[in-house]
Amino acid sequence: MVLTVCPAVNRRRISHSVSVSAASWLDAGAVTGMGAAHHSHAGASIPNFLGYGCPAVRHPVRLTTPEAAAKRQPMTAHKSGDPTTLNRLYGRSKGKPLRAGQQTLVDDLLPQIAVPPEGEVTAERLFGHACPLHFEIGFGGGEHMAARADMLPDHGFVGAEPFVNGVAQALVHVSGDHGVHPQLGNVRIHHGDALDVLQRIPDGALSFLYLLHPDPWPKARHAKRRMMNDGPVDLFAAKLRPGGEFRFGTDHPVYVRHALMVMRRHRHQFDWLIEKPGDFQVRPGGWPETRYEHKARTVYGHEVWYFRYRRRA
Ligand SMILES: C[S@@+](CC[C@H](N)C(=O)[O-])C[C@H]1O[C@@H](n2cnc3c(N)ncnc32)[C@H](O)[C@@H]1O
Repeated sequence: MVLTVCPAVNRRRISHSVSVSAASWLDAGAVTGMGAAHHSHAGASIPNFLGYGCPAVRHPVRLTTPEAAAKRQPMTAHKSGDPTTLNRLYGRSKGKPLRAGQQTLVDDLLPQIAVPPEGEVTAERLFGHACPLHFEIGFGGGEHMAARADMLPDHGFVGAEPFVNGVAQALVHVSGDHGVHPQLGNVRIHHGDALDVLQRIPDGALSFLYLLHPDPWPKARHAKRRMMNDGPVDLFAAKLRPGGEFRFGTDHPVYVRHALMVMRRHRHQFDWLIEKPGDFQVRPGGWPETRYEHKARTVYGHEVWYFRYRRRA
């Protein structure tokens, strides 16, 4: 058990957390707590989501050896190709026409806070000074990014989002929500593919990386489009500093199963920060709700799962 040494957010809670690698946690049968989580998507439920069987209370989890695991048939997540190699964007780039105020922000504010189109992306270049750097992939309407930036004014935040309506909403938050809040000076935005920017961040320069409710691409044949795949996760590992944190959230049972399989292959790079079964069902401190997450809970009645991984030294 390794005590976490973690960044400023919610120190009391984090200082008590213990890192357990995903493998030891799952292989030891600690997955039993996942049995408590049920999901309303198409009758899917968490108990079988790792293929590790049902809660130990009724059916003990079968322990597996690395040799046995290696002999298993590759799963869909192993299909060749992923967002880093496909090098293309899927999904919408625009929706409803922007309102006049949003268009003005896109025309006037975005150029002032846009990530430069070329060259290294460093805190010094973006903010004029060194500071802990956070990166959010696919920020949607920017609620989480803005709330985090407000919480940590001495840190620098970079967000990437190809959907222009999301960028426009984020600009509203950055500009102070029509005078409700002060303007946020510590946010930079890339209107486009997160991987384009991530590749330009020097290795080890990120303190936090967020992937919140990525597009699930639930069909197996689209698995390679999922952001949580080996290529992107290797990139996340390269860009995070040792001790840096990768936060991932989803409400999608197919995606969570896929993501945990992928992260299991990256145990040499990441420790899953979890104290006990069920922790991943509770929103950690310093993790503001995203717009998508709010809708998933309130409109669709979905459960949401939260994962924190620490970059190993
Ligand atoms: C389901 S939405 C979630 C948005 C937001 N994170 C939230 O939780 O409200 C997924 C978002 O990822 C964005 N996205 C998809 N591919 C992306 C990429 N390659 N780079 C950055 N964002 C991407 C989409 O445009 C979309 O806004």
